[in-house]
Amino acid sequence: MERADVIIVGSGVAALQLARHLSEDTNVIVFTKSDVSNGNSRYAQGGIAAAIGEEDHPFAHYLDTTEAGRYANHSQTTLEMLREAPGIIQELIEEGFTCDRNQDGTIDLGREGGHHQNRIVHSGGDQTGKRLMEHLQQQIRANVEIRDHHFVYELLVENEVCYGVRYKTEYETAVLTAPHIVLSTGGCGQLYASTSNAPTITGDGFALAYEAGAEMTDMEFVQFHPTLLNVNGKTHGLVTEAVRGEGAVLVDEKGRRIMDGVHPLGDLAPRNVVANTIYTEREKGHTLYLDIRMIPQFEERFPTVTALCHRHDISLSEGFIPVTPGCHFIMGGITTDKIGRTSVTGLYAIGEAACTGVHGANRLASNSLLEGMVFSKRLAGWINEQKVSGIPYTGKNKPLLLDPICDLPPRSLLQQKMMENVGMVRDAKALKKQKGWLESFHLDQWFSFDLSLLTSKQVTTLFMLRTAWLMTVSALEREESRGGHYRSDFPNEETEWQQKQIVQEKRKSNEPIHL
Ligand code: SIN
Repeated sequence: MERADVIIVGSGVAALQLARHLSEDTNVIVFTKSDVSNGNSRYAQGGIAAAIGEEDHPFAHYLDTTEAGRYANHSQTTLEMLREAPGIIQELIEEGFTCDRNQDGTIDLGREGGHHQNRIVHSGGDQTGKRLMEHLQQQIRANVEIRDHHFVYELLVENEVCYGVRYKTEYETAVLTAPHIVLSTGGCGQLYASTSNAPTITGDGFALAYEAGAEMTDMEFVQFHPTLLNVNGKTHGLVTEAVRGEGAVLVDEKGRRIMDGVHPLGDLAPRNVVANTIYTEREKGHTLYLDIRMIPQFEERFPTVTALCHRHDISLSEGFIPVTPGCHFIMGGITTDKIGRTSVTGLYAIGEAACTGVHGANRLASNSLLEGMVFSKRLAGWINEQKVSGIPYTGKNKPLLLDPICDLPPRSLLQQKMMENVGMVRDAKALKKQKGWLESFHLDQWFSFDLSLLTSKQVTTLFMLRTAWLMTVSALEREESRGGHYRSDFPNEETEWQQKQIVQEKRKSNEPIHL
C-alpha cells in the first residue's frame, strides 16, 4: 500500500505555498485533476493586498476588510492575517519575486474595490497569479511530487480520522494513505453559468469534506465579481478591478455613470455593492461598459485583459469594454481553525476551499492570494512539528453501484438553475425550488456507494450537485441580506444575524448556530 506523509489535493497558490514550506524529509504528494497550469490561481489578475504604503497600517487594512465583509469576519484571525501580510511580501521579494515598481524604485501599489488606500502589490500588471505560481513552482523541492491528471474522488475516514484518499487516473483506481490530507481545491465558480473561474473549479473539496463528515460554514456567501467580459450575452473571463483602480468608470449605453451617488467609494465600492448596482441596471434594460478612455497605455498595463478582449473581437480603440457580473469567489467553505485543521482529525483545508473566517460575508479584493500564502505557511510550520504516523488502510469498501440510481443532469442545466435560483438575488420560493430539484437526484444514496465505477466526469457532477445543495440550504437558512448573500424577501442586514454562522455537517441538522 502506497503511503505519503502529506497528501495535498489541488495545485494552486495555497497548495504550492504549503508544499514548499514542508520540511525536506517530508514525503509530499500533490494530486491535481488536470495540471498545475489549469487552476484558478494562474488566472488571478488582482494582486496581493498588504499594508506596506507609508500612510497605511494593518489596522486600516482590517477596517476595510471587515467593512467589505459586513462585519461577519472572525476579528482575531483577520487581524492576524493582515499583520502578517507585509512579512509575506518582504519574504517574496527576498526570494527574488519581482513586484511592479514606480520609477523611483518603490513598489507600485494599486487600488481595488473597498480599499481606502493603495495597497495591492502586482507583478506584471494583471499577471500576478501567473507570476506567483511560477515563483512558487520554482521553489518546490525534490520531496514534493506533483501528479497531474489524478482525480481524488473519496476521502478515507475511520473513527473520525481521515487517513487517505481514493483516486483515479486514466488507467487505474488506487488508494494513497497519509497522516495529513490537505484540501486545496479552490471554490465552486463553475456551478454558475457566468463565472470568472477556470473550468476545473467545481466544488470538489466541499463535497469531499462534507461526505467525510467535516463541518462546513456559511456556504451562502458567494461573491459575484462586477466586471466579467460580456460578449453576446455570454461571459468570457475577468476584467480586473485594478482597471477601475486606475480610473475606469462604469457607464451605461448613453455614457451615464451608474455608480454616481451609490456609495462614497463610487466605482471602487465593495464588490457586492457594484455587482448589485449593475444587476439592477441590467434588469432595467441597460447595457453596461467599463469606460477605459482615461487610462494611458492600457494594453501595456493590462496585457491579460487586452488579450482577452482581442480573443473575443472586442476592440479597445473606442475605449469601452462590455461587462456583466459573474460568480467569482466563495467566502464560506470547510470550517478550519487558525492552522487549517478541519473538524475531522488528519484533514485540513487551505485557500478558497477553507472558511477561516477572514472574508466574512464578502471578500475584500486581493485578500485571497494573501490568505493562501499566510495560512499555508502556518499549516506547513505546524505539520513540520508533528510526529504522527498514519492509520493503516483497512481495505473497507463501500458497496458497488450496479445500476444508476437516476440520471444525473447535464452540467449546463445545473449552472443555469444556480444562476436563476441561487444567484445574486435570492428568495425563499426560488431556493426551495432549487433544493427540491437537487434532492431529486438522491445524493445521499449516490455517495453511499463505491464511486470507482463512475467516470471522473460523473463524479464531478455529483460533487457539483452536493456543493450546490450545501449552498442552497445555507442560503435558505440565512433570512437576511449580508455581503454576497442578497435575499429579496429579507433585504436588510439584521443585527441578530451578524455573528451567526450557518454550519452544516453530514447527518446533523442544519440549524443555524451562534458561535
Ligand atoms: C480582480 O482583479 O478584480 C480580482 C482580484 C480579486 O478577486 O481579489
